[in-house]
Formats: sequence, structure tokens, C-alpha cells
Amino acid sequence: MGSPAYILNSEMINRMYNQKIAEKLGIDPSQTIEDAKLDPRIGLIKMFQASRTTIPIYVDFEKLVRYHFGVFAFTGGGKSNLVSNILRRILLHTKDTKFIIFDISCEYVFLLLDILADPDVPAKVVLERKIESLEQFFNSIVKPREYENDERIKTGLKKIMEQGKLAYYTMPRQKVPTYGEFLNELKDQRKEAVGRPHYMNAVDKIHDAVLDYLENKGLDENQEVNEEFIKYIDEVATSAVQQFKVSERSGLYSWATTRGMIIDRIKKMQEKEKKQGGGLTAKRIRELLEDEDRLICVSISDPFIIKNLVMKLTQDMLLRRKRKFQVKPYILMVFDEAQEFIPSVSSSSGIDAKCSRQVETLLRQGRKYGLGVCVATQRIAYLNTNALQQLHTYFIGTLPRPYDRALISDTFMIDKSILEKTLEFAPGEWLLSSYIATGIENVPIFIKADNAEKEIEKFLKQNSTIV
Ligand SMILES: Nc1ncnc2c1ncn2[C@@H]1O[C@H](COP(=O)(O)OP(=O)(O)OP(=O)(O)O)[C@@H](O)[C@H]1O
Ligand SMILES: [Mg+2]
Repeated sequence: MGSPAYILNSEMINRMYNQKIAEKLGIDPSQTIEDAKLDPRIGLIKMFQASRTTIPIYVDFEKLVRYHFGVFAFTGGGKSNLVSNILRRILLHTKDTKFIIFDISCEYVFLLLDILADPDVPAKVVLERKIESLEQFFNSIVKPREYENDERIKTGLKKIMEQGKLAYYTMPRQKVPTYGEFLNELKDQRKEAVGRPHYMNAVDKIHDAVLDYLENKGLDENQEVNEEFIKYIDEVATSAVQQFKVSERSGLYSWATTRGMIIDRIKKMQEKEKKQGGGLTAKRIRELLEDEDRLICVSISDPFIIKNLVMKLTQDMLLRRKRKFQVKPYILMVFDEAQEFIPSVSSSSGIDAKCSRQVETLLRQGRKYGLGVCVATQRIAYLNTNALQQLHTYFIGTLPRPYDRALISDTFMIDKSILEKTLEFAPGEWLLSSYIATGIENVPIFIKADNAEKEIEKFLKQNSTIV
């Protein structure tokens, strides 16, 4: 207030927003074009559409990924379209940034069909169960209404199958305990031993041995125990019950002397994993993402199964990166329909609350280890607010509910009157604001995103032999 105001012309806006990022990307913004292969722009800046110059908008993909981003709009606002548009460009215009999409609505096989069918892109589509035919694959994915019966899609799906990119998830049934569960069993034994000091001594000795083992090996309680640990603790437990003269007829004695049987369970699991041709466990999915694949699309609509996978994967990835002090390659984890994965903790329980806490941890700690998160949802009011606060970039479309706008305004410090403008948006129009990934820190800008369906249409035209 009180400082002189300048009328910005399009050239200035272009320079302010794009110069630095365009230089980093090695492109010339004046040659901008909608084609995703040729131009990493995510769309056009909107304020100057009346004038004839088109100003592209570029974002710093590395920072976008590493510092997390959110996409919020009413249903049909274009969230999934925008997310796929951004992912496509990240894949085409960064060297090795990878991503995994938790696609509970099963839309992304269509939205990224060109990328998934590209023989140069190592990728996987992970479905809920094994699929036997092209027809089944076609029926198991969701397409926009205009494409519902479009047979041309099958050409793309066939390519995915022929390249061995189609897989399914197998949730292991027999369980190997984690170190945490092992410690809990000990806690139960301790409760029963109350009043018998020598029993408690034996329990404490085993307990200390477990903790020492974890510390020495740099392990975490959430990891599954391994064979070496079982051999070690079997000896410790057996000698402890003998040393403290625990009665052979007690529960503690039989617990302590039978831990070795877990080795059988571990071996059975390993054999099963080997036999499951085509089926992928959470561990295998993590390995694929870390090693060869650039993109994994998990299209599983069963909330229980997909949440289970989310928890295992995120926990495992964070742990491994911590232990190896690893930051690269950047991996982006995409949660469309984020209300399923990071619901407000106070109003959820069981697996929902667990999953929410786990993804919140990923958001808090991920950036240190090159693990980024993208969340998209239509009802921001239902989300875990701690998780929301971790997002450094956000795209906001039409939010008809005043409560949602108020929450956005508070969480991201965007002026309410600017947010009112979103009410006039058409699908694909966004208010973009970022602390870090755009040319100007924290100054919201109106943009029109390029339409991902155009890329798909182009791909379908080029590959339109009907199967
Ligand atoms: N950038 C865009 N340009 C033009 N049209 C768009 C754009 N983005 C989306 N649309 C149109 O809006 C429709 C809805 O888009 P999309 O499915 O991405 O919305 P959504 O916000 O993910 O909806 P939902 O909440 O149901 O998941 C698309 O089928 C498309 O026709
Ligand atoms: Mg959607």
C-alpha cells in the first residue's frame, strides 16, 4: 500500500515467471507449443489471453516434486487431468524423476496411455488381480465418457501387455512378525510374569537383547524380523529361561523356547514369493521403482488392499532411504482421491487412521530423502490438516463450498477475495501458488492447464489400427 503500482505487460510477466526456470530447462519460452514432448510447459498464464500473446507457464519440476504439491477442485474441475499432464511432462523432461500413482479410481491407465505404451519408458501397471485377456484389461480401466467404447484404446493396452508391463498385486497371507510385534509379545509375557521377579528378569533380558540388536544393526521396529535375528534371539531366550529358572510348564518357557519356528514361516514366504509368477509383493514393487521402472501405476479400487500397499511401500521406502542416506532419484508418490489416504485423523479409525498417519510421516520426512508427494482431492475439509501444511505448491480450481475456501485461505495464506475468483473457473483453469517451484515465490497466478486428453487423442490417432 502506498508504493507505486506498475502495469505489467506480458513480456514482463513472462520474464518474471519463466526466465530462470526456462534457463534451467534449456528452452525458449517464446517458442512455446502445446505438444508435451516438445515443451515442458504445464499450460498458459491466463491474464493475458485477451491480448494475442500466449505466455506459457513453467514450473521447476525438481522443486515441485521434492516439496510436495496439492490439487484441489470440485468434482469435474480437472484434477486428474492436470495431475496426468504434469506427470507426463516430468517424465519427458527430467532425466530420472520417477513416480508411483495410487490410482483408486483406475483412471490413469487411460490418462497416461501414451507414456505407458511407449517402449522407451520402463513402467508397470499393477492391477488388483491377474488379467487374462485384452478385453478384461479394457473393461477394468475407467475412461472419460466420450471414450467409453473407443476401441482404439485397445491398441495402447495391447502394447502395454506385449511389453510385459502388466502385473498384479499379491498381498502375502502368512505373516512374518515385525520387531515391534515381537516386542509386544514380550510385553504380554511381562504382564503375566508380574509378581514373579525371576520371570521378569528373564523377560527383561530378552527385551534388552532385542533392543541391542535393533540398535547395532540400525533397524526399525516396523521391519519384519529376519532369519539371523531369530537364530540369535532363540539362543538368548532359551538361555535366559534356564538362567532364571523359569518353570518348564510356564507359558513364558514355552514361548521362549519356540521362537525358532518363525524361521519356517520366513522360508515359506520366500518360496511363495519366488513362485508367484507375475504377482508382485509390496517389496518387489519397491525394488522395481528403485531400480528399473520410471513409472508404476497402481490401479486398485479396493480401498483395503490399496491402503495396505500404501502403508507397506511408504514405510519401506522411507526406511531404506534413511538408512542409505539416499536422495536420488526423486520419487513422487501420487495420491488422487487423497481423502481416502489422508483423511482427517480425528474422524477416522483403524486402517484409515493408520494410513493417514503413515502418509503424513512421508510428507514430513520425505523431502529430506527425495520422496515427494502429490495429493488431489475435491473435499479439502476432510483431509488431515497436518499433512496439508507440508505442501509447498498448490493448484486451486473451483471450490464451491465456502468452508473449503476458508480452509485453503488459512492453510496457504491466500487472500479470500482472490479465491472467490475460482468460482468462475472452467475445467482446467487454476490458481497456482508456490513457495518454491514457480518463478515468483508465493504470488498466485491464474493459469489454463493444457488438456491431457489432447495428448491421448493424438496417440490414439497415430495408433488407430483397430484390434
Ligand atoms: N486442462 C483442461 N482443458 C480442457 N478440459 C479439461 C481440462 N482438464 C479437464 N478437462 C475436462 O474436464 C473433465 C473432468 O476432468 P477430470 O476427470 O480430470 O476432473 P476431476 O477433477 O479429476 O474430477 P473427479 O473429482 O470426478 O475426479 C475432463 O473429462 C475434461 O473433459
Ligand atoms: Mg479425478
